[in-house]
Amino acid sequence: MNSAFHNKTILVTGASSGIGFASAQAFLAQGAKRVYMTGRDANKLTTAVAALGENAIGVVTDVADLAQIEQLKTAIAEHGDTLDVIFANAGVAHYNHLGATNVADFDTLFDTNVKGLFFTVQTLLPLLKQGGNIVLNASMTSNKGSANLSVYSASKAAVRSFARSWANDLKDRKIRVNAISPGVTRTPIMEVMNLSEADIDQFAAYLVDAAPAGRMAQSDEIATAVTFLASNAASYINGIELTVDGGLTQI
Ligand SMILES: NC(=O)c1ccc[n+]([C@@H]2O[C@H](COP(=O)([O-])OP(=O)(O)OC[C@H]3O[C@@H](n4cnc5c(N)ncnc54)[C@H](OP(=O)(O)O)[C@@H]3O)[C@@H](O)[C@H]2O)c1
Repeated sequence: MNSAFHNKTILVTGASSGIGFASAQAFLAQGAKRVYMTGRDANKLTTAVAALGENAIGVVTDVADLAQIEQLKTAIAEHGDTLDVIFANAGVAHYNHLGATNVADFDTLFDTNVKGLFFTVQTLLPLLKQGGNIVLNASMTSNKGSANLSVYSASKAAVRSFARSWANDLKDRKIRVNAISPGVTRTPIMEVMNLSEADIDQFAAYLVDAAPAGRMAQSDEIATAVTFLASNAASYINGIELTVDGGLTQI
């Protein structure tokens, strides 16, 4: 058995579905002692935690609410835990049309994907061990000019930028910080984006030609890259963006 995370304690934000859930599962499969999982919807989180067994702990947290991030820190500390890895994954996606974008939609994207991620890491930093590890979930869109996705893409470009700056800011504590940039991955975020089954089929058809992989990713394929970056196998990898998109943005 791969035991890369033997005796390690991990935080995965936004772990109740999709990439976060698959990553929590992968950390546990590789020997993690405990994985803290967060999300806003208590029922969804309870179901996800139950599926992963006794080494998973759920803490309902909205990363857009700084008081709730403080409560998450308190919950982890009260368990007597410090952290070896933070996977800052929680995020939302919405299309926006330039010319018809309202402030509330803009704020939701930046409050969650940028401010929420920033303050998750800043708040939890005192619990992160010397030599610990941070992985940030950006997106391949951070490097693209995709139509009607400018606010989401800009939020993810900020995430990618944090990885560069924080790798530098945290060098004295020997904490590595990297970003993962998934391509199109079949998760519930597509429903969050109000994509219909027909829209999703259209996406899949587009990828057959546009991406060398010829298909969407599954969450566990992204999780494999997340756990790699967080492991000692990536000990000399710092500040990068690892794009996992089946080649879509690489050709
Ligand atoms: N799927 C893709 O194609 C793709 C591509 C590139 C990047 N990504 C990124 O991957 C990350 C995970 O997305 P996913 O595709 O796995 O979608 P997902 O299945 O919808 O997962 C998103 C997770 O984040 C949680 N979440 C959302 N807003 C939150 C908030 N304010 N506070 C705390 N938790 C919150 C959700 O739970 P609740 O709703 O219960 O809070 C859920 O657990 C996101 O950052 C996304 O931008 C996805």
